Amino acid sequence: MTTTAVVLAAGKGTRMKSDLPKVLHAIAGRPMIHYPVRAALEAGATRVVVVVGHGRELVETYLRKAFGDQIEIAVQAEQKGTGHALQMAMPALAKEPDDGYVLVTAGDTPLLAARHLRPLLEAQTGPAAMLVATLPDATGYGRILRADGKVVGIREHVDCSAEERLIREWNPAVYAFRLDFLRAELPKLETNNKQGELYLTDLVRVAAKAGGVVDRPVDPADVEGINDRAQLAALDRRMLADIARRHQLEGVTVRDPASVEIHDGVVIGRDTVVERNVVLRGATVIGANVVIDVGSVLTDTTVADGAILKPYTISSESKVGERAQLGPFSHLRPASDVGEEAHVGNFVELKKTKLGKKSKANHLAYLGDGLVGEGVNVGAGTIFCNYDGFGKHTTVLDDGAFIGSDSQLVAPVRVGKGAYVATGTCVTRDVPDGALAIARPHQENKEGYADRIKARLKSRAGK
Ligand code: UD1
Ligand code: CA
Repeated sequence: MTTTAVVLAAGKGTRMKSDLPKVLHAIAGRPMIHYPVRAALEAGATRVVVVVGHGRELVETYLRKAFGDQIEIAVQAEQKGTGHALQMAMPALAKEPDDGYVLVTAGDTPLLAARHLRPLLEAQTGPAAMLVATLPDATGYGRILRADGKVVGIREHVDCSAEERLIREWNPAVYAFRLDFLRAELPKLETNNKQGELYLTDLVRVAAKAGGVVDRPVDPADVEGINDRAQLAALDRRMLADIARRHQLEGVTVRDPASVEIHDGVVIGRDTVVERNVVLRGATVIGANVVIDVGSVLTDTTVADGAILKPYTISSESKVGERAQLGPFSHLRPASDVGEEAHVGNFVELKKTKLGKKSKANHLAYLGDGLVGEGVNVGAGTIFCNYDGFGKHTTVLDDGAFIGSDSQLVAPVRVGKGAYVATGTCVTRDVPDGALAIARPHQENKEGYADRIKARLKSRAGK
């Protein structure tokens, strides 16, 4: 038996009140469309056809980047209903065998996972299977109609009689259909309903007559859809709570799961501690025995074992070596690489800078486009002047160099091995290995001058 899937995602999502297509709004760090597509692939679908309409270029661009050629795009230019949307996907499935099954889900139910889809495939022998959920009040949803306990149809909320509106069992819109059934029946759908749409749900009535519909219960919380930004936030919170809990069960101390945001796909090693208000985004990978202290925000950052990130460390697209120490208030901008046991302290910003093993920049510095060797000491207030208004230039500090406080290095420039830059020096020319660079006016002390100056200023002020 072959399995394919169709994810319906052409709808506009009017209630999001957004220029961005609804299915691209993020949940736990990924566009919500990611999850149903991944769920279908994990459940065994060999191909996933995504039906797009509103903002289709953007949706397609994202899906290609995330899933490559595992997905296929079908376009529904005008939204004429869920049945019409599925019709648009059929040409993409033309080569699939008649006895194959097609999972059909919606693009806006991010908590749906492979474990919900598998029972629909395992239960399969007839033309259709579907999930059903129960709520005390199912207002808005299509209601499940049963006869002798068997599912015989679905009635959309707007088409329900007063009595049918009391039905608590509803349609989460997650189905598996056999392809020969779809090929025969999908083209016959009609628009005889209040919305004048082609309802996919009408297929359930047909399938009930053509061999029966298998139904499997699902927790309504797991198939909740997103229509507005309040639901977006609620489901985001729920997914983040699940993710934090998974890390806890794998041996990560997550101090206060309700306050942290650990995105889908982030990797964290054992005995690492994630303190309050930490945000870990994107392709972040954290090793074992790491401390990520309060308020740190890491995006696409790799942190090796034993590193300590003190409070409010901010980093994007960067690397932190084993046992390195950052923060409080350090800032790594893209392409920075902090070496093993290196230290980056408060109010130090790195951009595209490599800091070698055991090198230190502990206070108030800007290191942009730098190549810093091992065992280098960068004093407080040091600035790599990397930009001349037109191009970016590199500052190289060789192993063991010592940069005195409040120095400026005007790139391109190199400070040689073990060289010394005196405090307050503006370095404009390369410094040879082992040399001292000093560029500052000589100091003069005028004995007794302070008292004279004070007397003069006092009398001028009339005191
Ligand atoms: C649908 C079901 C309803 C079910 C509910 C669950 C139908 C007729 N009704 O209702 O029984 O309880 O989902 O949420 O199927 N879409 C398209 N093209 C269209 C219309 C919709 O791609 O022309 C996509 C949407 O992007 C969305 C999904 O299909 O991802 C469901 O559409 P939506 O309008 O939310 O369905 P409902 O009318 O709420
Ligand atoms: Ca609708």
